[in-house]
Amino acid sequence: PIVSMRQLLDHAAENGYGLPAFNVNNMEQVWAICEAANEINAPVIMQASAGARKYAGEPFLRHQILAALEAYPHLPIVMHQDHGQSPAICMAAIKSGFSSVMMDGSLEADGKTTASYEYNVAVSKEVVKFAHSIGVSVEAELGVLGSLETMKGDKEDGHGAEGTMTREQLLTDPDQAADFVKQTNCDALAIAIGTSHGAYKFTKKPTGDILAIDRIKEIHARIPNTHLVMHGSSSVPQELLAEIRQFGGDMKETYGVPVEEIVNGIKHGVRKVNIDTDIRLAMTGAIRRYFAENPGKFDPRDYLKPAREAAKKICLARYQAFGCEGRA
Ligand code: G3H
Ligand code: 13P
Ligand code: NA
Ligand code: ZN
Repeated sequence: PIVSMRQLLDHAAENGYGLPAFNVNNMEQVWAICEAANEINAPVIMQASAGARKYAGEPFLRHQILAALEAYPHLPIVMHQDHGQSPAICMAAIKSGFSSVMMDGSLEADGKTTASYEYNVAVSKEVVKFAHSIGVSVEAELGVLGSLETMKGDKEDGHGAEGTMTREQLLTDPDQAADFVKQTNCDALAIAIGTSHGAYKFTKKPTGDILAIDRIKEIHARIPNTHLVMHGSSSVPQELLAEIRQFGGDMKETYGVPVEEIVNGIKHGVRKVNIDTDIRLAMTGAIRRYFAENPGKFDPRDYLKPAREAAKKICLARYQAFGCEGRA
């Protein structure tokens, strides 16, 4: 059945585990996420980004998730809108059947300018009011995701334009988080702790000064009843990079968020862990390998099959590491 995000995250909090929230753009990704969940009886969060809506269109995304509901009727599934840029976008998603939305008021509606605190409070509050009246959950975001190595905001997230930022701008402030939640009543809060979107997060395996897990503890202590969300949580496995390079890809050295650090975050209030890039890397590695080893093949089913199996493997590993097994 379709469930609200709040239901799943409350259960995760009560039982001390975390949930991966995987981005979906196509049937193969929906299949991989649900096959993995089905194998170990895990609850499912599938989320559609603005990029996904641009690529597939809202009807194809929605119906693919609805197809999953039909194919796996026993699994609790959240249909979540990722990074909604305005109240209007969130309202449209809610009207079309999404059970959860993210109002990302960390940026203004142009998707480029870092928003004022007051703007973020106002738009998040507006969406919460509408969503809660019909049982839909809301994730908000406070702080600028970005790199504590380069002191730059997350380009993929829109915060690229402002130049160099301070450490304090790149870390969510616990006191401000407490005020924000009090004013908006959001169900879940995405926080900035040094992660950023995409494959190029860190130039070396991150240590505590560039991935601020301690900040999670401080925020959780202030808002223990708000579920924390970690964006940019792909781990960028070195073996997937190696596979991509081995079969003709060109990716420079890069590191993601180690799974053990995410697990540490889950011990301190992180309940939703956003993952997109790892699935992209897994599918690309498998497809590159398949083409290299089978140059005569041309049926998309032939190469999408190993791609979706590779995606499933990553999903299964994350469900297991975050403690989702048997929670559905
Ligand atoms: O929010 C970031 C996700 O990785 C989605 O990225 O907009 O390219 O689909 P996208
Ligand atoms: P990654 O790019 O690390 O997979 O993050 C995805 C994300 O945060 C989607 O909102
Ligand atoms: Na943001
Ligand atoms: Zn994100």
